[in-house]
Amino acid sequence: MSETEFRKLDHIRICIEKDVQTHNNWTGFKDVSFIHNALPEISLEKVDTSLKFLGRRLEAPIIIEAITGGTRESTKINIPLAEAAEDLGLAMGVGSQRIAIDNPKRASTFQIVRRKAPNTCIIGNIGASQLADGYDVKEVQKAIDMINADVLAIHLNALQEAIQPEGTPFYNGVLKKIEKITSALSIPVIVKETGAGIASTEAAMLEKIGVKGIDVSGAGGTSWAAVEHYRSKQLSNYVNAKLGEVFWNWGIPTAVSIVEVCKSTKLTVIASGGIRTGIDAAKAISLGANASGLALPLLKPALEGTIKNVLEMLIKELKIAMFLIGAKSLETLHSVPLIITGQTAEWLRARGFPPEEYAKKAIN
Ligand SMILES: Cc1cc2nc3c(=O)[nH]c(=O)nc-3n(C[C@H](O)[C@H](O)[C@H](O)COP(=O)(O)O)c2cc1C
Repeated sequence: MSETEFRKLDHIRICIEKDVQTHNNWTGFKDVSFIHNALPEISLEKVDTSLKFLGRRLEAPIIIEAITGGTRESTKINIPLAEAAEDLGLAMGVGSQRIAIDNPKRASTFQIVRRKAPNTCIIGNIGASQLADGYDVKEVQKAIDMINADVLAIHLNALQEAIQPEGTPFYNGVLKKIEKITSALSIPVIVKETGAGIASTEAAMLEKIGVKGIDVSGAGGTSWAAVEHYRSKQLSNYVNAKLGEVFWNWGIPTAVSIVEVCKSTKLTVIASGGIRTGIDAAKAISLGANASGLALPLLKPALEGTIKNVLEMLIKELKIAMFLIGAKSLETLHSVPLIITGQTAEWLRARGFPPEEYAKKAIN
């Protein structure tokens, strides 16, 4: 097994066994409230969660976030995730495809996703640090062809690269490379963070170079500083273990990052990072996102055979939240008023996004 494969296995094991979420769980969603509608004038069964997402139709605005691929363990996770995505009409991301680009023998652990989900919107995945390190259009096209991807995600993980003992925290020239990749490909490119969020300036720069969507992957859920803290400890690397502890809660909370990106671009926005219930998903969409994504909460259910139930429950929660605010479609959900209080309101005000505007939204 290669060093990368060992590392990927470690990541999965640590995410299953340890508490790897930000300590304060500050996604910002606790500060965001809907106004209950006692007279919704719609029926729950007629609530419609379908949407158009980067040229594809989804039955619900739920994305199975990029998690894995490349090892035998990851095949065990990818199969049930792909089957659930296909059955429920959701989109699914695969984990970083670097392993299989460097070693084609590992491609089958990703290809199984397309085989199990022939009609699903599948999102390929490559790291920005691989682009900085020499990957070009040829390697990226290989990743796309490997799974016949509908969309390509380029992930940003500066925090993880800085904490990981073997990390490559070199981000010089990444934007230019993303621009080159984006203009050469025939499928939409999205850029995703991995738990530290994206601010308005970077979002606007990405829109300008032709990126079609942003997955904010903000702080409040899985912390890669935490994951690398546990790995470093295991490797008796106490410097990096300490760094992981110090940067554990680093990042822009997810709710704030959604506003940052939605207010500065017209891109398709995925909200991920600490989405844990259908109410969180509804709040994210009402803040302006097109869809919500989850990773960590899907890992164990994928291995335990309960993944479809977990996703069905999430969709049910989303539908009930929409019913209780009188939103029969995602379009209406975008326009319902929201009350934003506490630290999240303070942050938004300081950044020039007055939270009071959200309370004045009105259903058309
Ligand atoms: C075990 C695991 C592996 C992950 N691997 C990748 C990856 O290869 N590429 C990527 O873009 N994101 C990866 N992520 C990040 C997720 O896609 C997501 O952005 C992040 O975990 C926030 O969502 P969550 O709080 O619901 O976990 C991974 C997450 C987990 C939990």
